[in-house]
Amino acid sequence: MKCRVCRGPAVIDLRRHNANFCPEHFLDFTRKQVEKAIDDFEMFGPDDRILVAVSGGKDSLAIWDLLLDLGYQADGLYIGLGIGDYSDVSGRHTRAFAEAKGATLIEIDLRADHGFDIPTAAHATRRVPCSSCGLSKRHLFDSAAVEGGYDVVVTGHNLDDEAAVLYGNVLTWQADYLGRQLPVLPARNGFPRKVKPLVRLTEREMAAYCVITGIDYMIDECPMAVGNKHIAYKEALNLIEEQSPGSKFTFYHGFLARAQERFAASSGDGTDDRPGLRTCERCGSPSSNETCAFCALTDKVAGHEPVPVELIRPRR
Ligand code: AMP
Ligand code: FES
Ligand code: ZN
Ligand code: ZN
Repeated sequence: MKCRVCRGPAVIDLRRHNANFCPEHFLDFTRKQVEKAIDDFEMFGPDDRILVAVSGGKDSLAIWDLLLDLGYQADGLYIGLGIGDYSDVSGRHTRAFAEAKGATLIEIDLRADHGFDIPTAAHATRRVPCSSCGLSKRHLFDSAAVEGGYDVVVTGHNLDDEAAVLYGNVLTWQADYLGRQLPVLPARNGFPRKVKPLVRLTEREMAAYCVITGIDYMIDECPMAVGNKHIAYKEALNLIEEQSPGSKFTFYHGFLARAQERFAASSGDGTDDRPGLRTCERCGSPSSNETCAFCALTDKVAGHEPVPVELIRPRR
């Protein structure tokens, strides 16, 4: 197996590109894919201050590394979700990376700073853990970016993640979600811009990037997400990809190029421009009610006896 560029020994084959690469040219390839996504979707420029939401997993550590490498001003944001060992270990990976790079890391701890954690929220709300987890992360990404004066929030969602979300939205014809499924959400109503620069790269490519660059990432998946639909959709798409390399890319990027706008047209303008948006009386965040969803969640669960993660069963 020879590198497409230098004919030296290759370490990875990318069937959808019909190419093999040596370590050096694979890293070139990933940087170019990220730069293309940033340019094509006008995600940000060299003067923008970027806040990267970092979970300690391969994708978010890799995109932080790539952005620093490309010369962007990128600080990290880590949220301690209180999901037992999983959170402890992911926090350690994130801190070690920031220290090694001399990069700035902002940390928020749900239990220390807001009086609850995700297992307790799941128990108290009787909803799947991912629902309070997603709500808390979204709120804290937004408020940390606004407070810190950042222009844009970056997350590590990759092509597999976005194709799986698209697959789920198509299976159930969620027209509103389809109208909003974009790798860039513009700043609006006091919310910061949010972007996903890894939409041209797969999970496998991000793992290879971390192995080649020596990034020590958290391998385990969240114990509370085991068995969820998103994982099943990824497996289904991987089966199709196996038979027909490039399908995942065409599915997602073909949707963006040829179909997304049609759904945006039928579900408003595709952005969240809720009329009557006001300010949460507790935290000052934009909100459609007097109290925002995060403050309402805090009210409901902050006084609750802590519930250990082992008591929360993953639900489908
Ligand atoms: P997930 O929702 O776990 O699939 O993660 C999607 C993206 O959200 C990751 O790539 C990160 O950018 C971000 N993220 C997830 N968990 C955290 C966390 N605990 N702290 C900061 N960012 C996170
Ligand atoms: Fe949010 Fe697992 S990371 S529920
Ligand atoms: Zn090469
Ligand atoms: Zn609030």
